[in-house]
Amino acid sequence: MKNILVTGGAGFIGSAFVRYMVEKYPQYTIVVLDKLTYAGNLDNLLPVKDKPNYHFERGDIADAEAVERICQEHNIDAIVNFAAESHVDRSIMNPNAFLQTDVVGVYVLLEACRKLGIERFHHISTDEVYGSIDEGHFKEDDPLSPNNPYSASKAGGELMVRAYHVTHGLHTTITRGSNTFGPYHYPEKLIPFFVTEAIDDRPLPLYGDGTQVRDWLYVEDHCRGVDIVLHQGAPGEVYNLGGENEHQNIEITHRILDILGKPRSLIKHVEDRPGHDRRYAISNDKLRAHFNWSPDTPFETALEQTVRWYVENEWWWRKIKSGEYLEYYKKQYGERLANA
Ligand code: NAD
Ligand code: TYD
Repeated sequence: MKNILVTGGAGFIGSAFVRYMVEKYPQYTIVVLDKLTYAGNLDNLLPVKDKPNYHFERGDIADAEAVERICQEHNIDAIVNFAAESHVDRSIMNPNAFLQTDVVGVYVLLEACRKLGIERFHHISTDEVYGSIDEGHFKEDDPLSPNNPYSASKAGGELMVRAYHVTHGLHTTITRGSNTFGPYHYPEKLIPFFVTEAIDDRPLPLYGDGTQVRDWLYVEDHCRGVDIVLHQGAPGEVYNLGGENEHQNIEITHRILDILGKPRSLIKHVEDRPGHDRRYAISNDKLRAHFNWSPDTPFETALEQTVRWYVENEWWWRKIKSGEYLEYYKKQYGERLANA
């Protein structure tokens, strides 16, 4: 591998991966392909913008002509696909873009690999494809049972990856990460949304009773897992990347408020998300056994560092919270908060 195309590299996890790879592998060229949707942000890539082994291309992964041209121009020999529509609430409101990017876009990338003989395709997926589990942990060969349009689209994309491995013999790998958090996370997801709202003493709309459970993984641990699987994963295999760090949403909310020294009265219990999965939990046994990977950032430290990052980097998130963001906020939370 020499020239790696990182799609979705201007988003939250994709940009963390680009910053990590550009530093760790100066012998590789990292080319980002990103459409710069509402969630894509070149500010996330400022730390690498002048590095000689980094290039940026704006484009859509569902645009076959653009994908093939960029792969040829940069002599790409591996693709790591982070590009996706990634927010469950938006997928409930408007699923169209999810099918287009998370299913059709993946197919277009796979076709480019097949046609151009690109050696590796690594696909970033999510623990949400398994659906909800009340007890125990999902393993990689458990059935997929997605419950919302986001996770259904991600499952569809994954199955296309599998099909291209079996049918065309592509060297594919997939990682299914759990809920990831850290700096540069778009402030619509639970942690960055609640941190930035609490800084401004605004209400925190917690869905339902707040006892749903998510398994939180620090973004640097996620990137390290992807690096290992990209280099050492066996063709056609799927690997879970779990945080081994389950918390109820209400508990996460309390911790954020405590770190910021804000009152719990900011919490507003609002109408639940339809189809809300109660608990996500996955087993890391496979990745631990094969490559000795496990998440190693202590949660308390990582959460505190993340909250501090938002306190110290208002320049990054204040400009996001305008325009389209405010329209989305009103649609998603206006009535919910008014009725709370
Ligand atoms: P994000 O929404 O922050 O970033 C997505 C990026 O993809 C943006 O830069 C956006 O501009 C780009 N993009 C969207 N559509 C595109 C298209 N058609 N062509 C090119 N670029 C496009 O998402 P994220 O949280 O960084 O997630 C990255 C990946 O990780 C996604 O595949 C997501 O499903 C997966 N994942 C996320 C989490 C999480 O907790 N955030 C957990 C597990 C897996
Ligand atoms: P989110 O960050 O959207 O990730 P996902 O739905 O992909 O797990 O949400 C994490 C949890 O927080 C989920 O159980 C929904 C809940 N949540 C709220 O209670 N209120 C909110 O405003 C948001 C965005 C999420």
